Amino acid sequence: MSKFIARPSKELSSRLKVPGDKSISHRSIMLGSLAHGITKVDGLLQGEDVLATLQAFKKMGVKIERDNNQVSIHGVGLYGLKQPSSALDLGNSGTSMRLMSGILAAQNFDSELVGDASLSKRPMDRVIKPLTQMGAVIQSKGGKPPLKIKGAQSLNGIDYDLPVASAQVKSCVLLAGLYAQGKTCITEIATTRDHTERMLKGFGYYIEAKNNKICLTAGNNLTATNIQVPSDISSAAFFMVAATIAIDADIILEGVNINPTRTGVIDILQLMGAKITLTNTHEVGGELLADIRVQSSRLKGIHIPIELVALAIDEFPVIFIAASCAQGETLLTGARELRVKESDRIQAMADGLSILGIQNEVLADGIKIQGGSFHKPKDIIESHHDHRIAMSFAIASLRCKYDIEINDVDNVKTSFPNFVDLANSAGMNLIQV
Ligand code: S3P
Repeated sequence: MSKFIARPSKELSSRLKVPGDKSISHRSIMLGSLAHGITKVDGLLQGEDVLATLQAFKKMGVKIERDNNQVSIHGVGLYGLKQPSSALDLGNSGTSMRLMSGILAAQNFDSELVGDASLSKRPMDRVIKPLTQMGAVIQSKGGKPPLKIKGAQSLNGIDYDLPVASAQVKSCVLLAGLYAQGKTCITEIATTRDHTERMLKGFGYYIEAKNNKICLTAGNNLTATNIQVPSDISSAAFFMVAATIAIDADIILEGVNINPTRTGVIDILQLMGAKITLTNTHEVGGELLADIRVQSSRLKGIHIPIELVALAIDEFPVIFIAASCAQGETLLTGARELRVKESDRIQAMADGLSILGIQNEVLADGIKIQGGSFHKPKDIIESHHDHRIAMSFAIASLRCKYDIEINDVDNVKTSFPNFVDLANSAGMNLIQV
C-alpha cells in the first residue's frame, strides 16, 4: 500500500496531455467486441479499470491485440461471445460491472461478475431492477456484487424511467436492449454522459434521442469502426484546479474531450471566477475536443447550480479543493450519488479537509465548505482506496505550506497511471513511496 507525500509548490506551467477518457475507453472495448470486423482504438486509457474490461472480453473469446494505447479488437458480433472459464474480475471498476451486466444478461451462457472490496460494496440493484424487468435472471449479495447472471433468458424491451441520474444504468439498459424483443427506452431525470449513445451511432446502430428519452430497437448489427479516444476531462480537472489555485500558473491541457454532458467542472470553476479559455475546438469521431488554457485565478465561493451536478459528478472531490481556496462559502446539494462512488466521497473529502483545517459541514446530499487556507495537516489523509480522493489532496499542495501525506494511493492507477509524472513535469513536487 503506497502513499503520496505532496510537497509545497507554487508554479505550474506546461502543455499537458492527460490520458484517454475512461468512459470512452471502456465502451470502445465493449462495442468493438460486439461488432463485426476489426475496430482500431487509438489513445486507449491504460488504467486498471479499462484493462479489467479488456481482460474480461478476452476471457470471453475476443481477440484483442494491444500495443500500449493502441488496440485492435477482432469483433465477434452480438452473439459471438463465449462462456468464460471462471468469474470475470472487474477490480475497482463500477463502469465495467454495470455496463457488462447489460450485455451478459442477454447471453446464452451463465456468468459471474466479481470485484475488489470497494466495488463489492457498491449498489448493483440499480441495474438488477431494470434488467429483471426485461426478463434477466440475476443473483446478487443483497443488491451488491458478486453478480451471478443466468444465461439463455429471452429479454423484452422496456420503457424505463431512471430513478437516479446514472449513465452506467442508462448504458446497461441500452446494451441489454440490443438483444431485447421490441423497443427499449430510457427516460433520464437529469442529463448524464452520452458516450454510449454517440458510440452506438459510430458503430452504425440507429438510436433515437429526443429531450431526455433515448430509444433503440434490437435486430441490427454493430459495424467495426476506428476510434480516437480524446483526453479525459475528469483527469484534466485535477490540473484545472491545480492551475487556478496555484500562485503562478499558466497551463494548456491539450485535446480534452468537452462533450457537453461532461463539462460541468468548467462551468462550475468559471462561476467561481477561474480563468479558463477553450481554443482549437474540433470534432473527432462524434466527440468534441478542445485545448483548455487555465491560469491562476482569484476564486469565490458559490452555490453550485443543481443542473450542473450530474455534469460534474466525478470532479467534485477536486472542486472541493478549489472551494477550500475560494473566498467565502461554497454549497453543494443534490449530490447524494457521491456517497456511493469508489468511496463515500462527501465524507472522505470532509475528513481530509478537516485535517487540513478547512471548515466544512457535511449534508446528506452535499457539503458546505468555508474557503480559507490549508493549515499544517493534523494527520495523514486517508484516500479510502479512492483514486480521485488521493489525487485531489495531492493538488491541495499547490496552496499548502506544509507536506501533505495521503495514504493508500495505489488506486490512482485505475484511472490515471502517469499522474505523478505528469504532475511533477508541470511543476508539482509529488513523491510516491
Ligand atoms: C460513468 C458514469 C458515472 C461516473 C463513472 C463513469 C460511465 O457513474 O461516475 O466514473 O462511464 O458511464 P454513474 O453513472 O453511476 O453516475
